[in-house]
Parts: sequence; structure tokens; C-alpha cells
Amino acid sequence: MSTPEKLYEGKAKIIYPTDDPEILLAYFKDDATAFNAQKRGTIQGKGEINNAISSHLFQRLEAKGIPTHYIDCPTANEMRVKRVTIVPIEVIIRNIAAGSLCKQTGIPVGTIIEPPIVEFCYKNDELGDPLLTRERLLLMKLATPEQLEQITQLSLQINQILSEFFNDCGITLVDFKLEFGITSDGQLVLADEISPDTCRLWDQSETDPDRRVLDKDRFRRDLGNVESAYQQVLKRVLEHTSNP
Ligand code: C5P
Repeated sequence: MSTPEKLYEGKAKIIYPTDDPEILLAYFKDDATAFNAQKRGTIQGKGEINNAISSHLFQRLEAKGIPTHYIDCPTANEMRVKRVTIVPIEVIIRNIAAGSLCKQTGIPVGTIIEPPIVEFCYKNDELGDPLLTRERLLLMKLATPEQLEQITQLSLQINQILSEFFNDCGITLVDFKLEFGITSDGQLVLADEISPDTCRLWDQSETDPDRRVLDKDRFRRDLGNVESAYQQVLKRVLEHTSNP
């Protein structure tokens, strides 16, 4: 069977149509980008690892009542998902200060954020995914006030579920990015992926600020051992998945 023509190619995934118009196939690539694609590289085996981690997390979230686009994984690099219209917002949830929050505010890295905060960025590569205010987001009609409220509540619930799970794995969920989509029957569901590409994950057994990093910051900051960090996350997720 020939590979169907792709619908869309992003930085980390290629999306293909399937025979069912309501179902798409996401192919997870090994390509890595950072700083709005100014830095590019390959992380060996990343596609398979991120597909496996994302699928485990989506199944865990579904089991706890969070609607997601996840269907199943026909192969190691591929995930079947419900077709959605993506809400063009990147939702960032922060439990501990890191990354752009520290750069933009001067808050020291590692400061605990209690209660966690939810931020919104405009999903637009040309503009560099700028941070939005709620008012700008509504002005731009990127979501309705009701959708925004639902996205915020779902994001906080997801944060609680994932923070507890990663904690059981000996990993601190520092911050992460979510994307949401709307199905053809109007349901708001969690979409995209949840992986070391989209989360900051710190190993609780390490205190050294560089050695504890188990996520894409290893690639962004040239810390080395990127593949083994991603593998370590998958290993711990799998070890703790028998207990949903
Ligand atoms: O860069 P910043 O500190 O705002 O990132 C917060 C979190 O969102 C990090 O876990 C990062 O990996 C994730 N993120 C992402 N995709 C983006 C921007 C941020 O996955 N385009």
C-alpha cells in the first residue's frame, strides 16, 4: 500500500488522512527543533519514545475522565487520533518557575508556583508564539469565553493528574504545554502530544540543576545525553503504568 499524501507536516509530527474522514494518523518524527526552529537536530528514537509516552499519558487521562483525541497506536511511530480543528492557543501550565517565565520576569528558576498558573500563547510561528492576555485572546476570537473557561479547568485537572503520576515516577512536572481541538460533533478534547518535548521534567533523585533535566532542555541547552533522558522517562512511565 502506498503512503497517502500528508495533510500537514509540523516540527515533530506528520499528519496523514485515513479511510475514515473522522480519523487521522500522526507520525512522530525524530526531528527536534528549539527556539522557534532556529535550532534543529535529530534525537535518535525520539519519535517512538514520544509516541509511547504520549499514548500512555492520554490513556491515563481518559481513564480519569479527560476527553482526548487519542484512539490507539497501530505502529511504534504512529498514533491514530480523532480529527479535530485545533484551537490556535498553546496552553502552558507552570508548577515551578523555569524557561520563559524566569527570562521575562526575573523570578528565580526553581521557585514553587502555588497555586499553579495557566498561560496562553498564540500558536503562530511567524509571530514567535507570543504570550497573550485573556483580553487579547478574546479580542482575536481564538476561543469563546466558555471555551477558555473549559480549557483552563481541563488544564488544571490534567496538571493534577500528571503531577501526581510523574511524582510516583520520581519525576517533578515543572511545566508543560497543551493544545486542544474541537471534534466534528463540537466536543473540546485534549490534542497534540504530552512528552519530554512539551514538558519540563526533573529527576527527583538528582539535585544538580543540569543532571536532573529529563526533557527537551537537554537539547535546547546542549546538555548531552538527550536520548537516554527521554528513554529514562519512558522507562519510568511504563513501570508505573500497570497502576492507572
Ligand atoms: O519556553 P517556556 O518556558 O514558556 O515553556 C514552557 C513549557 O512549554 C515547557 O515545558 C516547554 O517545553 C513547553 N513548550 C512547548 N512548545 C512551545 C513552547 C513551550 O512544548 N512552543
